[in-house]
Amino acid sequence: ENEEAQKVLEAHQWLSKLYHHLLKHTKEGKEGLDYLLERGFTEEMIDRFQLGYAPNSKDFVVRFLEKKGYHPQLMVKAGLLSSNDSGEYSDRFRGRVIFPIRNHLGKTVAFGGRAIHDQEPKYLNSPETELFRKGKLLYNFDLARSAIRKQGSIILFEGYIDVIAAYQAGVYNGVGTLGTSITEHQANLIRRYVEEAVICYDGDAPGIEASMKAARLLKGSGCTVKLARLPDGMDPDDYIKSHGADKFRREVLEASDTYLAFIMRHLKKQYNLNLEGDRIAYVERVVKEIAGLDHAIEREHYLKELANEFELSLDTLKEEVSAHRSQNG
Ligand code: CTP
Ligand code: MN
Ligand code: MN
Ligand code: MN
Ligand code: MN
Repeated sequence: ENEEAQKVLEAHQWLSKLYHHLLKHTKEGKEGLDYLLERGFTEEMIDRFQLGYAPNSKDFVVRFLEKKGYHPQLMVKAGLLSSNDSGEYSDRFRGRVIFPIRNHLGKTVAFGGRAIHDQEPKYLNSPETELFRKGKLLYNFDLARSAIRKQGSIILFEGYIDVIAAYQAGVYNGVGTLGTSITEHQANLIRRYVEEAVICYDGDAPGIEASMKAARLLKGSGCTVKLARLPDGMDPDDYIKSHGADKFRREVLEASDTYLAFIMRHLKKQYNLNLEGDRIAYVERVVKEIAGLDHAIEREHYLKELANEFELSLDTLKEEVSAHRSQNG
């Protein structure tokens, strides 16, 4: 049992080295290397994150792992190989750029593979295994831990690409949640290390949805939450590539919104505030969100803002908030 886990970790380590070697030093891997360089990643990041290339072969990895003495059945269980009904083994990752996924101890427990051309799916990760639970792991936590402590803040990205792009831009306290949103488990884990969390998900509809969900979970765990401001449709990697590292830090991270400011900004786009009905619906929706804030000072702050903007009396808005709060106990 424990011995098996050890073997699986070892196999990941070997494979991570192999993929990295193939990327850097082989003719076949060159297309992976070129892809990463074209995307703007430096050699230094490629080395630091041990990025690699999985050859477009049915059984290159099968043979490699066999030679190293690992039982193929165990490697299937580890998510490194696939097998079919007739008991044939084959490589799981083919013709992809590889991102080793490390746990909090820095051990590689899974791989993420990104398509280079337009094969589907665009991202293929290792399946969930005993050593890899997606909802429990935070990508790059091992490298980011000391920066998180030092800065008293953690930044959440959607995945490895954004984490590495941010790292290259000098932002070292970033972690990735491998997909869109975080889980309660991850939120609790974060709160044990740090109070402030900055959510920097993609500026598209799923990213905004996931941001709000993550914000609520993190607030529930006792974190102070901020939400980065990305232009419509851009993700952190896109932004850094087109506007540079300094602007990313100043205008996206440092200019991040509070939870309520973020909600207001996004709700505003959904309503036509020139219409009376929309205006009322908007105000009601925002008041409901304000009622959910924990601190009276914070509630008062946003109520004043709302009262000013819509020429409403503060007392009326306060009454409304009280009604919501007594309803929700
Ligand atoms: N992701 C994942 N599994 C998926 C989809 C996404 O693990 N099935 C993770 C990856 O780490 C990815 C991140 O979520 O980097 C963000 O996903 P997405 O925004 O869809 O990726 P893009 O930014 O569009 O990827 P790219 O820039 O490579 O086009
Ligand atoms: Mn996305
Ligand atoms: Mn993205
Ligand atoms: Mn995209
Ligand atoms: Mn992207």
